[in-house]
Amino acid sequence: MFCLDDIEREIDREMAKSFKEPRIKDKDLFEVVEEVFDKPTVLAILELRKRKCLKTLKGVVSAGKEARVYWAKAFDGSDLAVKIYLTATAEFRKSIWKYIQGDPRYEWVISLPSHKLMSVWARKEFSNLKRMFKARVNVPEPICFHRNIIVMRFIGENGVRAPLLKEVHEAGELEEELAIKIFQKLIYFVYKLYWDAKLVHGDLSEYNVMVFNGEPYIIDVSQAVLTDHPNALDLLRRDITNLVRFFGEEVGLEIPSVDEIMDSILTKNLQVVGIEHEDERK
Ligand SMILES: Nc1ncnc2c1ncn2[C@@H]1O[C@H](COP(=O)(O)OP(=O)(O)OP(=O)(O)O)[C@@H](O)[C@H]1O
Ligand SMILES: [Mg+2]
Repeated sequence: MFCLDDIEREIDREMAKSFKEPRIKDKDLFEVVEEVFDKPTVLAILELRKRKCLKTLKGVVSAGKEARVYWAKAFDGSDLAVKIYLTATAEFRKSIWKYIQGDPRYEWVISLPSHKLMSVWARKEFSNLKRMFKARVNVPEPICFHRNIIVMRFIGENGVRAPLLKEVHEAGELEEELAIKIFQKLIYFVYKLYWDAKLVHGDLSEYNVMVFNGEPYIIDVSQAVLTDHPNALDLLRRDITNLVRFFGEEVGLEIPSVDEIMDSILTKNLQVVGIEHEDERK
């Protein structure tokens, strides 16, 4: 069995080894100079490169308190998004409690030290992404993960991320036809998440949807819960309430009520709210 000191020593050894590689390689990997990476994170990035998951970290896309998202290049030249979970603040621990309380798979993680909690959280996001992608919901395709890092498809072009739904609206570019299409797709995705992936996103809003080529992409899925989670229905209602508030009040669409949408999803009858879904189009 390893004790923490052994692991630290192992990390130091690994670090020393990797930095004995020609410097050009490090430059190749980190185009961005980042002081925010601690040793285990640098090692994890090196490991991902060794596994050929990513070639170069290009630049920061988003720098949140707990996680940073980077634009990266894959070995085949395609664009990637790399989400790195850094520090679990007290605020973060508080904010995730409602998603894990009552879920025996995760309740215990709340007392983990920061880096371990973040690794569990990254793994949770990766596995949620996989389930969602498999259910054919528009999410960034998950590519690989290691420790506190997940690698996924980049939503955008040439390192420029696609706008969030909120930003599209603020730019005055959410015309009625596009808004209706996106609203209907999002409800359909919530439905597919519920019935096919057996998940509820739990933090769905105009801030966690990107719009790319006229299509909505749902992001930020670490907190998603299984449908048998004790808070699943409350979280489902909250997600729908956010969508109804945004599309109804802010965008000004005439849309069904939260109750009508809840019922239609739970009774598997989206037509009630005027939404056709693929299965019925066949
Ligand atoms: N796959 C992706 N491709 C391109 N950009 C992305 C991708 N995933 C996330 N982003 C960008 O990074 C931002 C932060 O991502 P995300 O919401 O997953 O992280 P977060 O730490 O929870 O941030 P926040 O607290 O701002 O919600 C997003 O708003 C989006 O602009
Ligand atoms: Mg977010």
